[in-house]
Amino acid sequence: MNKSKITRSAACLLGLQLLIFSCQSPEPQQESKRGLIAENAMVVSAREEASKIGVEIMQKGGNAFDAMMATEMALAVTFPFAGNLGGGGFAVFRMANGETGSIDYREKAPGAAHRDMYLDENGNVIPELSTKGALASGVPGTIAGIFEAQAKYGKLDPKEVLQPVIDLARNGFVVSPQQADRLAGIRDVVREVNGEETFYGKEWNAGDTIKNLALAETLERIAKNGRDEFYKGETGHRLVAHLRDMGGIITEEDLEAYEAVWREPVIFNYKELRVISMAPPSSGGVTIGQILKMVEPFDLKSMGHNSAEYVQVLTEAMRRAYADRNYYLGDPDFVDIPVNELLDREYLKSRMESFNPDLATRSSDIAEGSVLFAESMETTHYSIMDSDGNALAVTTTLNGAYGSKVYLDELGFFMNNEMDDFSSKAGVPNMFGLIGAEANSIAPGKRMLSSMTPTLVERDGKLWMIVGTPGGSTIITAVAQTILNAYEFDMTMQEAVEAPRFHHQWLPDQVLFEENTLDSTLLQILTAKKYLINEGRTPIIGSVDAIMVLPDGKLEGGADPRRENKAAGY
Ligand code: GLY
Repeated sequence: MNKSKITRSAACLLGLQLLIFSCQSPEPQQESKRGLIAENAMVVSAREEASKIGVEIMQKGGNAFDAMMATEMALAVTFPFAGNLGGGGFAVFRMANGETGSIDYREKAPGAAHRDMYLDENGNVIPELSTKGALASGVPGTIAGIFEAQAKYGKLDPKEVLQPVIDLARNGFVVSPQQADRLAGIRDVVREVNGEETFYGKEWNAGDTIKNLALAETLERIAKNGRDEFYKGETGHRLVAHLRDMGGIITEEDLEAYEAVWREPVIFNYKELRVISMAPPSSGGVTIGQILKMVEPFDLKSMGHNSAEYVQVLTEAMRRAYADRNYYLGDPDFVDIPVNELLDREYLKSRMESFNPDLATRSSDIAEGSVLFAESMETTHYSIMDSDGNALAVTTTLNGAYGSKVYLDELGFFMNNEMDDFSSKAGVPNMFGLIGAEANSIAPGKRMLSSMTPTLVERDGKLWMIVGTPGGSTIITAVAQTILNAYEFDMTMQEAVEAPRFHHQWLPDQVLFEENTLDSTLLQILTAKKYLINEGRTPIIGSVDAIMVLPDGKLEGGADPRRENKAAGY
């Protein structure tokens, strides 16, 4: 948690051989820090306006699925960094009656996509082709996903749900200081891609009001004509024409063929918890399952939060899980994925047999495990709980910040650069440094592997936590640590979200620490054991939005102060 506590834990470990009991905290317990408490319903998202609109819809009689549609579109208006119509995502739900499920609205490779489309004549990856410009986009899934989910489980007319979002786009939202910095940071590239006059190429300063009239009109047509407006109507035709003019390959047939898919979530136990998370084509559920089950046999609580011993055990589990992720996982509609085998207790036990508490494992010594066969940081997550007890964890993305930077001025939104989540070439890292294999190679109509990890956790058979985060490849490890913070270290939801995090993803073989996580003592212990520490970089790791159901049934929001996340509730 705070630096002094980490230093104390690390120092304790150094002296472990001398006096193990000295690791007990000598200080009185600090008062717990709680997030927003609500009696009935809550939304926690990256923007206050989006959280409030979701809550407003529930106060008007809508449920979590109505709030999902409103929140997701409000993020598209106020948080174009990652909120989107031109991207995709995943939602995991648990109804009040215990029914669980998930919807996959991940982007798909266009029909004209092919395995080597980002390679030059010598077989080398062409820089930026999969990250910037019209060729970087997959076929968007967001509108299909929110309409499919709302039609099946929601209660209100989509027109009623979307009206406050249309009003928001028309009346405008105020640019925050962080947002002004981000917009300034990409202004040149947005102009380069879309021309000098493009909407987000203008200078937007903190405190300015952005009124996105083109997006208001797009949303109005979608509210009137439904999801087909995006996939078969005027909006879709304009999207295809715009991308075609820029050298893109998404066709009207690609849009017409797009369907969101209901999938069985990945469900596993961690001690007394039942964790429900996203199945492939997201690697989130399988990989967080592998990490948590690999550390389950260890007494993490007695090690101390972010102590050297704790960092070691978790790092070794992360290393092994990411090696499997990158080899085995891809779109289940195209590749066979041994999900049960990868989550098998005995298999995971055998994976940790090479763990040596005195010496770091080298990633070069860890390949994928042998099991029997018969996916920027720039995503966004929101968590919703309605007054009936229905819970939704939703993570949605354009991939990179403002996606491919292609902005459809006539429609009011950015397009994704999700094609970079495929492995353009086996063994060559993508923008997150993730090394992919054949299972995640490009094929027409295939979904690219993701790391998004929208997750629900039951405790004693009741819903306990709704959790998720942006963070590219660090999503999985940030969600795992948030769950462990609350469960193993008894943190409140807000504390669990705020606690400093670290990350390892097999390759590159290095442990990444947030600022205030790594002090000189911890560094000394880990380097003595040959851990490779990325000392130069201390980025934020995730930006978690979570909800915890408290013992009295009230809801506690965990809104990550690393960014401008906000909880709203009633
Ligand atoms: N584009 C980030 C992810 O899907 O993991």
